[in-house]
Amino acid sequence: MAEDLTIITGTKQEQYEALIPQITGLLEGEPDLIANLANVAAALKEQFTWLWVGFYRVKNDELVLGPFQGPVACTRIKKGKGVCGSSWAQRKTLIVPDVEKFPGHIACSSASRSEIVIPVIRNSEVVAVLDVDSKELNEFDTVDQIYLEQIVSLINFS
Ligand code: SME
Repeated sequence: MAEDLTIITGTKQEQYEALIPQITGLLEGEPDLIANLANVAAALKEQFTWLWVGFYRVKNDELVLGPFQGPVACTRIKKGKGVCGSSWAQRKTLIVPDVEKFPGHIACSSASRSEIVIPVIRNSEVVAVLDVDSKELNEFDTVDQIYLEQIVSLINFS
């Protein structure tokens, strides 16, 4: 496994297309979930320089902070609360162009302006969410949704 990430410039699509094989390489042969979540968060943060990239895992009916890159964050989120808890409850990706307009948004960092949350579903259960925050408004769109959903599908959560 190569430990260096090759950062590329180009369209968002080109950046994801170059990143996905590298993430596949990082995950290959490594069974430890925390190690893999940590490297996926780091790879995304390095390529895209977003404010915050990380995972919350479902534990005892709460989301609990997992591996992430970025400023310190709230550790526990209840189902239905904030963007993360809403994505979990609705079992779908949520794109929030302006966090101030999302009722109940949990402001872990005051610098966050827009957000995308991808639920990780295994055996019909949400087992985690991938949360990404940006300092820019309107950062995320369906291109991010498609590729980030593809990236979480690469991770073995069992
Ligand atoms: N903004 C999220 C909370 C997590 S932090 O952004 C890292 C939410 O509303 O669920």
